[in-house]
Amino acid sequence: MAKPKVFVTRIILDQGMNLITGFCDADVWPGEMPPGREEILERARGADGLLCLLTDRIDGEIMDRIGHQLKVISNHAVGFDNIVVSDATARGIPVGNTPGILTDATADMTFALMLAAGRRIVEGERTVRNGGWKTWSPSFMLGADFVGATLGLVGFGRIGRAVARRAAGFGMHVLYYDPCPAVPEPDVAAGPAELDVLLREADFVSIHTPLNDATRHMVNVAFLASMKPTATLVNTARGPIVDHVALYEALRSRRIFAAGLDVTDPEPLPLDSPLLELDNLVVCPHIASASWATRARMSLMAAENLIAGLKGERLPDCVNPEVYAKTA
Ligand code: DGY
Repeated sequence: MAKPKVFVTRIILDQGMNLITGFCDADVWPGEMPPGREEILERARGADGLLCLLTDRIDGEIMDRIGHQLKVISNHAVGFDNIVVSDATARGIPVGNTPGILTDATADMTFALMLAAGRRIVEGERTVRNGGWKTWSPSFMLGADFVGATLGLVGFGRIGRAVARRAAGFGMHVLYYDPCPAVPEPDVAAGPAELDVLLREADFVSIHTPLNDATRHMVNVAFLASMKPTATLVNTARGPIVDHVALYEALRSRRIFAAGLDVTDPEPLPLDSPLLELDNLVVCPHIASASWATRARMSLMAAENLIAGLKGERLPDCVNPEVYAKTA
């Protein structure tokens, strides 16, 4: 029997790739850069399955042009704001994602950014390299304290809770704001707070919400103005949750102390972005999930979702399970 045809928009780690090539006739985009819209349309036409990355925008037009035989879209990410899920649901196509496995790596990165920005690690390193460090001095490069500090988590799902667990080890007090918080877990010490209270009290504010219409530019002028001037903002969620113009002004004017971003808008930031002129910003290239084991498991999970969909089975991790209700 002929193998199902799939289009994979980038080479993923071997664990997932081997599974896919064993089961499917896979066309894998070989480029280092993502395929453009036209390239996806051309290469994916006639495919039974699509494995895409967060850099690929997948909407109803793409789904229609791939063809009505398209059975599954598997996103190699936990976030799925790159896919118009309502378009997939309307067409009865299940969409898979990779939740859970990147929780710890992302929580680790959140702490890395809190430390790097709050304790001026990158700025200090640059100062050593450019000869700016002349001698040890009591008031040189002072930064934030962690023990006794308040961490405000905006979003309290899996990743927010994993950050809260780490904060306990640092002796921090944790507040969270989440309109639909997950069921509390006994090993997570954190208290709910209204957003205005959290922003007023937090020494670190860390973003852990998905990107959607309600959270786009949630971190705006008013949000930043409500933070303490000594506070540090961290974003490991999605770039467009933060209004970068407002952030630039808040950092430049020292309205807030520092920021650490793993995600930006756009990605990558253009080299002439004013944000890159700021010493009190640490910015990374969307690498929170980039640990060896995490990316291996992500590739496997994305492959398993793809193959389940091709077999007509329920995806192990499906973001629009309502497609099954339709056919049940
Ligand atoms: C995700 O999975 O959504 C991350 O942003 C990348 O791993």
